[in-house]
Amino acid sequence: MARIKITTATLREMKARHERISALTAYDHLFAQLLDQASVDIVLVGDSVGTVMQGRETTVTVTMDQMVYHTELVSRGIERAFVVGDMPFLSYQVSIEDAMRNAGRLLKEGRAEAVKLEGGAVVAPTVARLVAAGIPVMGHIGLTPQSIHQFGSYKARGQDEGERRQIVDDARSLEQAGAFAVVVEKVPAELGAEITRSVQIPVIGIGAGPHCDGQILVTHDMLGLFSRFRPRFVRRYAELGRLIGSAVASYAQDVRDGTFPSADESY
Ligand code: KIV
Repeated sequence: MARIKITTATLREMKARHERISALTAYDHLFAQLLDQASVDIVLVGDSVGTVMQGRETTVTVTMDQMVYHTELVSRGIERAFVVGDMPFLSYQVSIEDAMRNAGRLLKEGRAEAVKLEGGAVVAPTVARLVAAGIPVMGHIGLTPQSIHQFGSYKARGQDEGERRQIVDDARSLEQAGAFAVVVEKVPAELGAEITRSVQIPVIGIGAGPHCDGQILVTHDMLGLFSRFRPRFVRRYAELGRLIGSAVASYAQDVRDGTFPSADESY
């Protein structure tokens, strides 16, 4: 496959051509390189870093400094993919000025090419200001993990008519505000399809069924590295956690037995 840099224009064209978009998360340089070399289209430096890498219960405690740090590591590992940096909780909700300053940091210091933030119609004025300042914005609607304490659980959203209408309106508001794409998390597949038909921007689903313009998963989930919880929408493409466990146990045993290092591995 040609190594042509992915941009917001490429992603728009992919939707128009009904070409599906692949997206995964990364938090460090090594994984960024691995995903990029495997031709994933979008690499998201997600605030899921809080649960996956920091061992926190939720994403709520992730800070702006941490997101800038991880985004910079990832950006340096990418040649082809489009890099999106996640705006952590309270980095964009307090004021539009805050949002501008913090999104600017993800681009200037983290070298992201876009930012992602959670919410629909409520955050549309913020999205419009960021876009006007030249900062591409990806929305995130449906289950928005930063609002976990308000939702009370990670159950699927959009299961009643009122909430379904609200989520479709959220997608339209984000499109009107100038978002270049929107992530839709954990909603019924028919709602994922309806949202995808309702907007011209790419809709990237996570637990939103097969009809979205693209799919995103947390890399550590799909590789079997993170097992603390496993939503139904995660397909495991590898069991790297088990592989690492058995490799490390073999090494520790070899050290105990005195069979490592061998003469060949010594000087
Ligand atoms: O933080 C994250 O990894 C995300 C994806 C799950 C969409 O927001």
